[in-house]
Amino acid sequence: MSWYESRLGQGARFGDSPAPFLLFPEVYAALDPGHAVAAWDESTGELIGVCFVHPRATHVAVGIVATAPEAQGRGVARAMLEPVIEAAKARGLPLRLVSSLMNLDSFSLYSRLGFVAHTIYQDLTLTVPASGLAGAAPVEARRVRRVTEVAEAVRLAAFEREWQGIEREQDYVFFLRNEIGAWRVWMLEDASGALEGFIVASHHPSCVMLGPGVARDEAVAAALLWSALDAMRGLSPVFLVPNAAAQLVRTCYGWGARNLELHAAQTLGPVAAASGIAFPTFLPETG
Ligand SMILES: CC(C)(COP(=O)(O)OP(=O)(O)OC[C@H]1O[C@@H](n2cnc3c(N)ncnc32)[C@H](O)[C@@H]1OP(=O)(O)O)[C@@H](O)C(=O)NCCC(=O)NCCS
Repeated sequence: MSWYESRLGQGARFGDSPAPFLLFPEVYAALDPGHAVAAWDESTGELIGVCFVHPRATHVAVGIVATAPEAQGRGVARAMLEPVIEAAKARGLPLRLVSSLMNLDSFSLYSRLGFVAHTIYQDLTLTVPASGLAGAAPVEARRVRRVTEVAEAVRLAAFEREWQGIEREQDYVFFLRNEIGAWRVWMLEDASGALEGFIVASHHPSCVMLGPGVARDEAVAAALLWSALDAMRGLSPVFLVPNAAAQLVRTCYGWGARNLELHAAQTLGPVAAASGIAFPTFLPETG
């Protein structure tokens, strides 16, 4: 919050109280207990840094990373990240994160540590009218349905492994159990019942956001986005769309979406061969 206010004059985006952000450590503690790194100032005992880590079978995701404003520029973030990088290397796994392209402090921190940016995402937002999204729904939207069965996590994880080269079934079990936060999961199947894409939506007031999700093509991605957004009437969700998905981005503009920020997927280690459309999120950080 203070970084966005001091650097971009956009602190108001995050409100005036830290209380709503407790959702983030609550989700991280439930998903990845014992995997956060913290830094304390030895002389004052004050917490001066946090780095949340999400180890998965195929990779280690990192984020959120933050250093207290008064402790920045002293190597705190680097000191927190180095053991995380060593542990991932020892397991032979790449590290993944999404980093704001409007935040050179974090971009260069990761870049100096060896992360390479490879995919640009546009952070988009729109306020969904109380009467629903304007205009005609994409044709494929009639095949989108809400999923609530926890057993479906296996299929979502297998689909992401096939299209994006990463696997994180525990995240989908967590979203579908829906015990912490407020999650909805949407999927689109073809006529034979084969999965063509899915998207998770966080309806919690502390994080109104779409993602993670994967779609096999832009038409499926548009249908999933439309359905998930239309169910957020009166809210202003944020969602990340690959910059390379040019038609999809223009479709979102047509619904009233505006650019809010830019993020880059940064990876340390081999970049997984990926196809289709990915929707990253910050909760939990995906990359
Ligand atoms: C990003 C952030 C975590 C960095 O924390 P920090 O403790 O100040 O970072 P460190 O001091 O460990 O390291 C910063 C590194 O980036 C380098 N750096 C900073 N700005 C740079 C620039 N413009 N160009 C090149 N290098 C730069 C520093 O020299 C340092 O490198 P070094 O260790 O090799 O000297 C901190 O600014 C922060 O909390 N920002 C707000 C929250 C945030 O943006 N989090 C990241 C997104 S989740």
